[in-house]
Amino acid sequence: MTDSIPVIAIDGPAASGKGTIAARVAEALGFYYLDSGALYRIATLNALQKGICLDDAEALTVATQKIAPIFKEGRIFLEGQDVTTAIRAEEVSAATSRVAVVPGVRAALFELQKDAAQLPGLVADGRDMGTVVFPDAPLKVFLTATARVRAERRYRQLLERGEEADLAALTADLEERDRRDSKRATAPLKPAEDARDLDTSEMGIEEVVKKVLSWWDEAR
Ligand code: C5P
Repeated sequence: MTDSIPVIAIDGPAASGKGTIAARVAEALGFYYLDSGALYRIATLNALQKGICLDDAEALTVATQKIAPIFKEGRIFLEGQDVTTAIRAEEVSAATSRVAVVPGVRAALFELQKDAAQLPGLVADGRDMGTVVFPDAPLKVFLTATARVRAERRYRQLLERGEEADLAALTADLEERDRRDSKRATAPLKPAEDARDLDTSEMGIEEVVKKVLSWWDEAR
């Protein structure tokens, strides 16, 4: 039973800052943090490594049902391999939004996400946390920012990590990923009816965290 466990659902498009905000809010409240996108990325990397065709829904579903990722001290392991960095590669990001359209893949990851709800509470980030996985969450937040701002944020992140980046290509990739995530039939990216929208284009991280924490004070 997860109904009595407090959950804050934070959804939004790619690079909207969900991950950073959700992790900070979880830290401030002493709650667990679920990065649901990491599960979709792990399922995708697994499929790529096993040479599964990304159009083969059946094979993707079966392979995803078998994954047993281990989250340990900030690292992610899959079949004994540290995949923490590999799942963030741009190639994996693009492929993930293709794998995430498969209903069987989503069903296979559903229980893993539900199991993350543990006392004293959970902050979950993704695309369908408020609509599908935790529809009873007392606080649902939908974070947005313009594609331009999001691409610039990702661009700076990549440069800081010493990686090469192309702003125009990043913007095009984000827009393509948003389009696929929003248009899919199963669990598309959209705000829950009772979600609170927050456009972070002009906001700093601390300001957004404060806002979410103030909403949480009102909601519980
Ligand atoms: O959040 P992140 O950018 O890591 O997510 C990667 C991809 O995983 C998204 O573009 C989306 O296709 C998929 N995803 C999803 N549902 C979630 C979280 C992520 O479909 N709850």
